[in-house]
Amino acid sequence: MAAKSTKDAAVPAVVARLTAAAKYRDVHPDTIAEVVRRESAATTNPAELERLSRARLHKVAALHLLTTRPAALRRAVAEVDASDPAALRAWCRAVLGGHVSTAERLPDLDRFYPTVFELVPRPRTVIDVACALNVFTLPWLREATAAPYTGYDLNATFVAAGNAFTDRFFPDSAVVHDDVLTTPPPHADLALLLKTYHCIEDRRRGAGLALVDELAADHIVVSFPTRAMNGRAAVFVRRHVDALAELAGQRKWRFATAELPSELLVAVGKG
Ligand SMILES: C[S@@+](CC[C@H](N)C(=O)[O-])C[C@H]1O[C@@H](n2cnc3c(N)ncnc32)[C@H](O)[C@@H]1O
Repeated sequence: MAAKSTKDAAVPAVVARLTAAAKYRDVHPDTIAEVVRRESAATTNPAELERLSRARLHKVAALHLLTTRPAALRRAVAEVDASDPAALRAWCRAVLGGHVSTAERLPDLDRFYPTVFELVPRPRTVIDVACALNVFTLPWLREATAAPYTGYDLNATFVAAGNAFTDRFFPDSAVVHDDVLTTPPPHADLALLLKTYHCIEDRRRGAGLALVDELAADHIVVSFPTRAMNGRAAVFVRRHVDALAELAGQRKWRFATAELPSELLVAVGKG
């Protein structure tokens, strides 16, 4: 009973401290609350709970992957003068280079959506689950489909920058500030879950697979990096792909893969 009351007091106190911390200013409060609540299963000690929660949030929010300064990103979106499509694309490439995930995609970007649409049919609606800066690939997505795009990210910096961009150039599209594990996105024909499945599995084992199982989308493209951050082959990817293949088999979904030099794409078709 004593342990329970210590734990009951520790969770809201640690949530309040982390929500107020400058480092997590951009992280959705639901994410912080969920991470602390889950970590509290391992300890009742407030200092230890805070340490475990910070370590988990470091992986979940992946703030270290943004290599540009958030203020510079916001200014860049406000100031872009893209009077012709080629200039807009060149500018988008520069913005995409500001986050590790999209920077890795740059060499394959011209082939990226053509490869996606070899795996899945053209959609009427697209959601990009955990999008970070991928909203800035909209000029490339638009070559393949006019479908409105909605991105979701738990990080308010990406959401603000993405909405400044869509408001100016793609007003039928938007980015929503949400944690997709606590607030599932609405139905779409196509859901993209790019290079984040394994991060979600790190946050909570089985949560990536459950997300794919439960996402209300006819087709889902899940992707993985082909190289780890240290440049070595991403050997951790195999078990995730096997788990997705097994789930697709159980659910009788279509399953297909395609590989670009920087990214492995896995498509499941539920419809
Ligand atoms: C590794 S980056 C991938 C970005 C993008 N999908 C891409 O491939 O370029 C992970 C992003 O997912 C976001 N994220 C992670 N878990 C999330 C969740 N449960 N809900 C919403 N966003 C999430 C993070 O804030 C971060 O911006």
